[in-house]
Amino acid sequence: MPVEMELDPFVLAKSLSGVHLIDGEFVAPVNGKTFDVLNPATGKSIGQAAEGDKDDVDHAVMVAKAAQKSWAERPARERGKLVAECGRVLNQHVDELGKLIALESGKALRTESRVEASVLADMFVFYGGLASELKGETVPFNPNMMTMTTREPVGVVGAIIPWNVPLLLMAIKVAPALVAGNSVVVKSAEDTPFTVLRVCQIMQQILPKGVLNILSGFGPGCGGPLVEHKDVKKVSFTGSVETGRTVYRAAAEKLIPVTLELGGKSPMIVMDDADLEKAVAGAIGGMRFTRQGQSCTASSRILVHEKLHDEFVSRLKDRVNALKMGNPLDESTDIGTIINAKQRAKVCKYIELGSEEGATKHELSALPDDPELADGQYVRPVIFTDVKPDSRIAREEIFGPVACVFKFKTFEEALELANDSDFGLAATVWTTNLKTALVATKRLEAGFVQVNQNLVVQPNLSYGGIKLSGLGREASLESMLEHFTHKKTIILNME
Ligand code: NAI
Ligand code: MG
Repeated sequence: MPVEMELDPFVLAKSLSGVHLIDGEFVAPVNGKTFDVLNPATGKSIGQAAEGDKDDVDHAVMVAKAAQKSWAERPARERGKLVAECGRVLNQHVDELGKLIALESGKALRTESRVEASVLADMFVFYGGLASELKGETVPFNPNMMTMTTREPVGVVGAIIPWNVPLLLMAIKVAPALVAGNSVVVKSAEDTPFTVLRVCQIMQQILPKGVLNILSGFGPGCGGPLVEHKDVKKVSFTGSVETGRTVYRAAAEKLIPVTLELGGKSPMIVMDDADLEKAVAGAIGGMRFTRQGQSCTASSRILVHEKLHDEFVSRLKDRVNALKMGNPLDESTDIGTIINAKQRAKVCKYIELGSEEGATKHELSALPDDPELADGQYVRPVIFTDVKPDSRIAREEIFGPVACVFKFKTFEEALELANDSDFGLAATVWTTNLKTALVATKRLEAGFVQVNQNLVVQPNLSYGGIKLSGLGREASLESMLEHFTHKKTIILNME
C-alpha cells in the first residue's frame, strides 16, 4: 500500500483507527470491538484502536507462520537490504511520526517525540547491515568428519511493547528478528497503538506481506493469547516486572525462550571530584525529566557526595524549574504529560508517600495554564532530598518525574547504596578520578554502566539488565544471534 505523508497527527490517528495490520493489509478485529485512545494532554479521544483478542492472534500468527518460510529462504543479505531500506524510508517520515507519538503519548515533540522518531531508522539500518554476520562455525571435532554449526531462525516471534518509547523499543525487537529470518507479530501498548501501526504500514511498502503484523489490544486479552499461541516460538517483552513474570510463566509452559526488559531504579553516583555542572546536566538527562521520568533507565536514585550535595541540589532545582511544561505538540514545550490517568495516580501516590516517609519534597516547574490542558495528565517534577534508603520511594520503580537524592560520605558507602536494589538495569558514576571510575564500573551491579555521561539505547551496544531488570540483551549483534536464532550442529562423515 502506498503511504502518503500526513503531517496532521489528528487526521493520521483517525485514519489508523479500528484496524490491525495483518498480511500487509489493514483488517478490522474479528470481534468488531474497538477502544478509545486518549490524548493525555487534553483527555479527549483521538481515535479508536482495534481491540484484538485470541481470534485476531490466531489469524496473525497463521499468516506470520506461512510468510516466515519463504522469508527465511531468501539470501540473508537480501533480507538485510530490505530491513535497511525500511530505515531509509522511515527517515522520510520523522516529522509525521514525531507528531503522532507526541499526540498519543504526551511526550513533548521537540525534546522527546521527534528525537525518538529520528533515531528509529538507525536501528533498521544497523541490523540490516548485519545480515551477513549470521555465520556459523566449523569445529575441529574429528579429522574424518566435517563439523559445523549454522544459525537458524526460530520461526514466529511475538513482540510485546510498552508505551514509553514505543518505536525504538519495537525496532530493537523487530529489526533483528526479521534480519535473522523470523516473522513477527507485534502487540502494541494500549495507550500508543497508532504510531506503531503507522511505522509498520510504512514498512509494508518494502517488506513481503505477512512477515510483520501488528495487533492492538489489551494485555491479558491480546498479549496473553500471543504469548500462549503454540506457533509463537520466541517472545520478546518490555514492560513491568509483574507482567514480565506472567509472560515468563506462560513461556515456560511452552518451553520457549524469552527476552525480558523490565525497568529499574538506576543509581547515579556523583563523587566529590566530579565536574558539578556536567553532573547536574547528566541528572536532568539521566532522570529523563523531559519525558516525565517515564524511562526504564531513569537515574531515579541520585547519590551525591556530602561536599557537593547542597550545591548540586540547588543547581538541579534551578535547571528543572527552567523546564517548561505544556502542550506536547508545541515546539516550545520541554515537558509533556504522563501517559494516562492510572499512571498519573500511581505517581501522585508515590509523591504523597515520599512526604509521609519523611523525605523533603521540592516540587518544581509549573503546570501549564492553558485551559485546554486542564484535564491533561500533568505532574510537576519532584526532587526528594533526605530520603531514607529503606523507604518505598527509594526502592520501588515510580516511572514518573520523581528523583530521590541521597547524601554519602565515602565511595564505599555510595557503592553499597547503589547496589542495594532489587533492580540492575543501568548505573552512572561522575568523577574525574580514573581509579574511582574503574572501580565503580567493576563494582556497580547493572547491565549498562557509564562514566560521566548518560546515553540511552544505542545500536551495537548490548542493552538489558540483571536482577529484576530482566533477562537477555537487546540492540547488538550478539542479541540478534543469541535471541533470534538457534544454533544447529551438523556433522558430515567423510569416511
Ligand atoms: P505492562 O507491563 O502491564 O504493559 C507492557 C505491555 O505488556 C503492554 O503492551 C501491555 O498491553 C502488555 N501486557 C500487559 N499484561 C499482559 C499479559 N498478561 N500478557 C501479555 N502482555 C501483557 O505495564 P503498564 O501497566 O503499562 O505500566 C506499569 C508499570 O510498568 C509502569 O509504572 C512502569 O513501572 C513499568 N513499565 C516499564 C517499562 C520499561 O520500559 N521497562 C515500560 C512500561 C512500563
Ligand atoms: Mg499493566
